[in-house]
Amino acid sequence: MALAGRLVNLGTETAFAVSLAAADWAAKGNRVYPFHLGDINLPTPANIAEAMNQAIAEGKTGYCPAAGIAPLREALADDVSRRRGLAYGPANVVVQPGGKPVITKFIQTVMDPGQSVLYPNPGYPIYESQIEYFGGRSLAYRYEETPTGFAIDLDHLHSLITPTTRAIIYNNLQNPLGCESSPEEMAAVAEIAIEHDLWVLADEAYFEMRYAGTSTSIASLPGMAERTVILYTFSKKFAMTGWRLGAAIGPVAVAEAIAKLNTNDESCTTHFVQAAGVAGITGPPDGPAAILAELQRRRDAAWSELATIPGVVCPRPDATFYLFPNVTAVTRRMGFDDVTAFADAALHATGVSFCTRKHFGRPQPGEIGHFVRFAYSGLDVDAIGEGLAALRSWIEAG
Ligand SMILES: Cc1ncc(COP(=O)(O)O)c(C=O)c1O
Repeated sequence: MALAGRLVNLGTETAFAVSLAAADWAAKGNRVYPFHLGDINLPTPANIAEAMNQAIAEGKTGYCPAAGIAPLREALADDVSRRRGLAYGPANVVVQPGGKPVITKFIQTVMDPGQSVLYPNPGYPIYESQIEYFGGRSLAYRYEETPTGFAIDLDHLHSLITPTTRAIIYNNLQNPLGCESSPEEMAAVAEIAIEHDLWVLADEAYFEMRYAGTSTSIASLPGMAERTVILYTFSKKFAMTGWRLGAAIGPVAVAEAIAKLNTNDESCTTHFVQAAGVAGITGPPDGPAAILAELQRRRDAAWSELATIPGVVCPRPDATFYLFPNVTAVTRRMGFDDVTAFADAALHATGVSFCTRKHFGRPQPGEIGHFVRFAYSGLDVDAIGEGLAALRSWIEAG
């Protein structure tokens, strides 16, 4: 039996293939250091788990409103407005089962088949997949290496815009690069969006995952709130990746359209999970603060090992939980033409498992360097030190 033709356009997170290879290696009795998956091996704060149990005991186990329960929409509107200097109300908020559904529902809401959407590359692979699945043209904009990290190639981004362009997907703070826009860069993206009358998806999954400084939302720049949809997620800040709770926050017309998609797709987000989310947003800040403090210790442990391996060039981001080193000199010295072969060999020689640039969107013409991504959120400090010391010995001997 034939399957639908459009499935050829559906991409995936190829990083899951790295998980399979790592699991296979572990099943053969080897120690594996899982730097490949952006998951967090820390518990969800206790007040959130208690609120969920309480909600179940109170019978909050049935259907609830498609756009989300009122207390959560109110709490999110207040919290997101306060932290970003905006003035959202509950009507601007539409609850989702995670941050990821905001991407697909945003695309369905603003893009018709044949239209184009610009997205970051390297970037979260689901953007490319969803634009193409819904019949759009996915146009990747590049980043440039800078002395301290990475910056959007603004000329390239600008050059991609045509009369059929509908939206820019803008991920700040960025996965996999760990980088953050300067105020000038963010203002330039906003200016382009306004000049060409484009929608913006502000993927702010890591907005509060930072160890220094403060985050700014592109939605707070003049002329932007009315064209921006914020992707909000509980996954990272509250270590709730498996709970599946997030929200789209933007103009009321978009929120209403997305609520209609909710009715069609999943009816509603799990009621007792939403009640737990209210406890997270309105509860004490110590849970998220402890998660962040532990991630910062891991960042320091991972960076100090990686950045001192000869031939590895590794910026130290103050945000997200990713490091994205340039390993070109190492792969050349060790005789690997292909970064995938390097990653496979590293797994089998050291147990260290990581993604490569190829897992974050199709590599662009002219790309010559080799980059890899280390997620340090799923290992404790000792495992980080041990794994990366093994990687160092292998590279130094190679
Ligand atoms: C940039 C980015 N956006 C969105 C998401 C989706 O997050 P969620 O787990 O809430 O669906 C992720 C998850 O890793 C991400 O890295």
